[in-house]
Amino acid sequence: MDDFKISRSDPIYVAGHRGLVGSAVWRHLHEHSYGNLIGRSHAELDLLDRAAVFDFFHTHTPAVVVLAAAKVGGIMANSTYPVDFISQNLQVQVNVLDAALEVEVPRVLFLGSSCIYPKFAEQPIREDALLTGELEPTNDAYAIAKIAGILQVQAVRRQYGLPWISAMPTNLYGPGDNFSPTTSHVLPAMIRRYDAARAAGDPAVVNWGSGTPRREFLHVDDMAAACLHLLRNFDGPQQVNVGTGEDQSIAEIAGLVSDAVGYAGETRWDTSKPDGTPRKLLDVSTLTDSGWKPQIPLSEGLAATVDWYRRQSTVRT
Ligand SMILES: NC(=O)c1ccc[n+]([C@@H]2O[C@H](COP(=O)([O-])OP(=O)(O)OC[C@H]3O[C@@H](n4cnc5c(N)ncnc54)[C@H](OP(=O)(O)O)[C@@H]3O)[C@@H](O)[C@H]2O)c1
Repeated sequence: MDDFKISRSDPIYVAGHRGLVGSAVWRHLHEHSYGNLIGRSHAELDLLDRAAVFDFFHTHTPAVVVLAAAKVGGIMANSTYPVDFISQNLQVQVNVLDAALEVEVPRVLFLGSSCIYPKFAEQPIREDALLTGELEPTNDAYAIAKIAGILQVQAVRRQYGLPWISAMPTNLYGPGDNFSPTTSHVLPAMIRRYDAARAAGDPAVVNWGSGTPRREFLHVDDMAAACLHLLRNFDGPQQVNVGTGEDQSIAEIAGLVSDAVGYAGETRWDTSKPDGTPRKLLDVSTLTDSGWKPQIPLSEGLAATVDWYRRQSTVRT
């Protein structure tokens, strides 16, 4: 183990360190005594600004880069603004990866998402399912950008021999998530909806779709631990799936969320709204074979996330 020595004093740049994943990676590195962390907010360094990104890399020459900055959204945002999702994500990752190559950063972890896999990929989805079929149309623009990032990492490995790697997390949740009614992912959107319904005493909550699609969820603190594990131990051109290897139906998830917020009403399904991919469960054997598995059970992680969400809402109001 520990094939790639990362010293506690190495400069580590976490791009997107204020986001859900980036902030968890930052916390995890900090808790593990990595003392030379570098982060810039979107306002301090716009990663769409190529010249500014190159300046930043020349000034700081990181030893490790975790690329967790991206334009991210749920099904509604992805299907309404596909131009923003493909254009901004391509630009952000090309700028960061090009600048990292220019200063020869030895270790880069590029983060994508399980939506890179074909809509009807065999389940659980293995890494080699990439580019074997059609994508889910509601987020194909985002997925194509992320696939381009994986290929850029592979190209750098081939052309320059640098041991850069990519990881594809399943659906993530946890403290720091986006709870916006328009841009959030399914789980924080549900927490918000059910908690509001509980507070208002509404008799029923209506969710998008049929409730039958199956989804896998990983706590973001587990994701952060997996990132450090991969940076220290993994090398290979193929992207690595990061998940729990277990899934639930959206209806089951709704039940867990309803319980976690203490909602006593009914759940209904608006089947006129799209369902998205029918099932998305990652095959995580590459990751488990490398010696890592998640530690936080869904019910425990959900309870903590609801707690965090309520504390944030109280602070805001
Ligand atoms: N959340 C999930 O369930 C999930 C699942 C699988 C994979 N992932 C992957 O994990 C990565 C991070 O996702 P996340 O959920 O952490 O997203 P997030 O919470 O939205 O964080 C993304 C961060 O990137 C920053 N950013 C975006 N555009 C930028 C720009 N032009 N310049 C500088 N900063 C910029 C954002 O800043 P602003 O907010 O200020 O724009 C934000 O802090 C993505 O690659 C995503 O595909 C996430």
